[in-house]
Amino acid sequence: MDYVLIKNEFVRKDQAYIDFYDRGYYFGDGIYEVIRVYNGIPFLWEEHFERLQRSARELDLEFSQPVDDMKKNILSLIAKNNLQNGIVYFQITRGEQERNHLYPRTLSSVLTAFTKEDDSPVSLQENGISLWALDDIRWLRCDIKTINLLGNVMAKRKAEDEGCHEALQHRGNIVTEGSSTNVYLVKDGTIYTHPANHYILNGITRLFIKQLASEEGISFQEEAFTLEDIPAAEEMFISSTSHELVPVTKIKGSVTKKLAIGPITRRLQKAFASAEN
Ligand code: PDD
Repeated sequence: MDYVLIKNEFVRKDQAYIDFYDRGYYFGDGIYEVIRVYNGIPFLWEEHFERLQRSARELDLEFSQPVDDMKKNILSLIAKNNLQNGIVYFQITRGEQERNHLYPRTLSSVLTAFTKEDDSPVSLQENGISLWALDDIRWLRCDIKTINLLGNVMAKRKAEDEGCHEALQHRGNIVTEGSSTNVYLVKDGTIYTHPANHYILNGITRLFIKQLASEEGISFQEEAFTLEDIPAAEEMFISSTSHELVPVTKIKGSVTKKLAIGPITRRLQKAFASAEN
């Protein structure tokens, strides 16, 4: 039986309870990170914590304990559960308080974390996925990694209902991102992806792919592409902590397109795989 982390305690999963008045439950008032673990070692650990701290600053959410203590506890959880390959999820809610939109700045934030064994999605990475293109109905601070994910959840459900693996969200004709992934288009050998502003989450995998592209000498433009650019796309792919880098072979919904898995996607996948080890 796995342990989970609640505040500073390691509790058996079947004995874990959350306070009834946790603001995460009433308002989605909290932030989170998902980190991949390869051979027992968390990948891009510092980068995820930097983003966590940024999310906290943007939401005026103060941690009730030093970040180093959180890191120590999360590493202990990975070790305690003997997680070799999988993910560690952790979230910090603003605290516990009878329901009130107005938060006092005196609450103690609540850290919870769990681990999950999960191999890389090799079959998706090999064969590609389909996307369902639909309107991006989310709020205007998608750069903050909050646990308030209803727009993303709705988009994912719709994609699945339409027989697709992931959503492709767009505001007007500008493509933003997936429901839980960043999205890329290759044209004339250059990779295009939405700039890191308030319309998307600046994925840690996205930043890593940017670095890999630079090492591989592939042009990487943080420049938005539109639905009209998709018919002429040479390749498309998505990225996230759990997917790593997965090619797109089909798009349906607001736009229709079939794609082959191209050389740039394959080169980046290869570079990614060697970096994990
Ligand atoms: N999702 N965009 C959105 C909206 C996301 O939720 C995520 C991550 C990403 C990719 O970010 P990263 O490369 O840092 O994982 C982009 C996580 C994995 C999730 O919610 O499970």
